Amino acid sequence: MAKSSARFKEKYGPWALIAGGSEGIGGAYASALAERGLNIVLVARRPELLESKAIKLKQQYGVETRTIELDLASPQMLDVISDKTNDIEIGFLVYNAALASVGAFFDSTLEGELTRLDINCRGPLSLTYHFGRKMIERKRGGIILMSSGAGLRGAPYYTHYAATKAYDIVMAESLWYEFRPYNVDVLACIAGLTSSPGLKSSMEEEGTAKGAYVMTTEQVVEEALGALRKQPSIITGKPNRRMMFILGFMPRKKAVAAIGKHAIKNFLGGKSPPQFQ
Ligand SMILES: NC(=O)c1ccc[n+]([C@@H]2O[C@H](COP(=O)([O-])OP(=O)(O)OC[C@H]3O[C@@H](n4cnc5c(N)ncnc54)[C@H](OP(=O)(O)O)[C@@H]3O)[C@@H](O)[C@H]2O)c1
Repeated sequence: MAKSSARFKEKYGPWALIAGGSEGIGGAYASALAERGLNIVLVARRPELLESKAIKLKQQYGVETRTIELDLASPQMLDVISDKTNDIEIGFLVYNAALASVGAFFDSTLEGELTRLDINCRGPLSLTYHFGRKMIERKRGGIILMSSGAGLRGAPYYTHYAATKAYDIVMAESLWYEFRPYNVDVLACIAGLTSSPGLKSSMEEEGTAKGAYVMTTEQVVEEALGALRKQPSIITGKPNRRMMFILGFMPRKKAVAAIGKHAIKNFLGGKSPPQFQ
């Protein structure tokens, strides 16, 4: 094992847990962390994907794996995860899964939005609280909360998704400072469009996100792991950083309107959707 991997394993091992780790960005985190020598716990809903990802990790990197078939929206989420991991040391947590969508605010039900709150906010809070506490006691560890550029300011048509992603950014950035004296590194990974299976299927729809800058899942993960410890958050991808920099100089109302227009043009067929059908 390379010296840098040995150091990585010593600081963040022996196990990593990836909430939403069977495919997409979460799957890329699982591979990148296994490549650095960590054993991997994968949490997701579809059992076939979970098992095939676990087999690949074992075969390719020779690490141990564990799978937990679970909906992160479940009220028993923390009990199930805690029960299935209480005999191993989780030194690295990635909270990847999210309920994402774009459309008018009233396109979804209140119940659906409360589920979004469970997956995108209650989940990362609960797992950070549970595993973060043990990391603090051990004085080593790492936590990455996946977020989105949508969470940096008002983002019309992503409204509640964006609000949940703002929650993740603020929590991770704050903990970056609070946990630093305990040798526990926390990072908000603020991704732009990334070619995960979810995004790919929406891009196959006519005209969706045509010509937009899209990163690979591996690029996002390598940038995030490279930024860990050094900074509280990273906006992945140079073009995305440039765009956020420019938006930061615009009056807030212009920036928010520009994001709304971008959503209409790229994801909503060029027309602002009605609030009620
Ligand atoms: N892709 C993008 O363009 C993009 C852009 C900006 C930010 N992000 C952020 O990046 C993160 C990852 O996004 P992604 O595109 O890779 O796809 P994703 O659909 O958020 O995550 C995929 C993984 O999470 C699992 N998962 C999803 N919902 C789950 C649930 N309720 N319970 C348990 N597991 C669940 C999936 O497996 P199962 O479906 O089998 O459960 C799969 O393993 C998200 O936090 C998102 O906000 C993505």
